[in-house]
Amino acid sequence: MAANRKILVLPGDGIGPEVMAQVQRVIDWFDNKGSVRFEVTEDLVGGACYDSHGVSIREETMEIAVSTDAVLFGAVGGPSWDDVPREHRPEAGLLRLRKDLDLFANLRPAIVLDAMVESSTLKSEIVKGLDIIILRELTSGVYFGEPRGEQIMDDGTKRVVDTQAYTEDEIVRILRVAFELARQRKNRVHCAEKSNVMETGVFWRQISARVAREEYPDVEFDHILADNCAMQLLRDPHQFDVIVTDNLFGDILSDEAAMMTGSLGMLPSASLGNPDPVTGKRYAMYEPVHGSAPDIAGEGKANPLAMLLSFSMMLRYSFDLPEEADRVETVVQNVLNEGFRTGDIMQDGCHLVSTEEMGSNLLLELDRSVQ
Ligand code: IPM
Ligand code: MG
Repeated sequence: MAANRKILVLPGDGIGPEVMAQVQRVIDWFDNKGSVRFEVTEDLVGGACYDSHGVSIREETMEIAVSTDAVLFGAVGGPSWDDVPREHRPEAGLLRLRKDLDLFANLRPAIVLDAMVESSTLKSEIVKGLDIIILRELTSGVYFGEPRGEQIMDDGTKRVVDTQAYTEDEIVRILRVAFELARQRKNRVHCAEKSNVMETGVFWRQISARVAREEYPDVEFDHILADNCAMQLLRDPHQFDVIVTDNLFGDILSDEAAMMTGSLGMLPSASLGNPDPVTGKRYAMYEPVHGSAPDIAGEGKANPLAMLLSFSMMLRYSFDLPEEADRVETVVQNVLNEGFRTGDIMQDGCHLVSTEEMGSNLLLELDRSVQ
């Protein structure tokens, strides 16, 4: 039996616990039937943690996050915590995990499976066969820049500030991830920024031009303005392979890319740090791109596939188990090919299933995969 692999599971709020429960069933399946065992620690994060402990993540939990092999994260947030001060808001726990583990590279693949072509709100000829990655810088930019917050001007009027700031190193390291990824794919990188308006945009443009020229002359490279990128994604997404961009544009463009695949409920993500030069250990967190969807929480309507595909990214990137990752992805495709759909991806002629039923079908397919 392979050595235990340690995972910290943080289901969070809203639909987080429901979709995580289906992944837990898959983890148990691996435990019972497969050759892979996981040692799972589960803890609270986000609003659920605030309600019990008055903070969005506890120090004990951060210590486990640092010592574990990978973090599997559900979703956080919801209207019940709207009035909580910003430092304790559910999102603060997520941002702290990203920042403290230095998870600067956020891979958000948008893949349109054949069975899902008709679920996209775009015409099928536009999205068929789509396979792109939005690579979002995750630990800097306007999400973390200082100063931020309220200021009172001399005349007494209130002014509120966010700061977009990037260092050269922060841009170079995310660009390198983009070019390395592209070399294993279609060998094409677009760097999206607003160099026509923003100082940081000019900086991103200069540095990306240099890194492309000096380090990756074999990779096809283009600059693209972020607003044009949003438009081109809808017009002709196949022109892209890897889109690398800052934290805020990456947040927005990845929601857009997710929707091309049929639903936000289909898009997984991996957030990676750099491997430690001595131990080789790489911090990593895996989370679906969809949020906590409080409007459907607790109703059994949530699509667990993005959460499950995040788990398969974990198998691939943290545990070097490509065959098991392929197995999970094939099982997802089979279940979709058989016509099982949660409400968000429902199509004519398909069977509407609950979160739990989707999980049961995934397990049946997993059983078949080893027969
Ligand atoms: C995401 C989410 C988060 C973000 C929120 C929940 C803080 O939208 O992961 O895309 O803005 O980064
Ligand atoms: Mg987002």
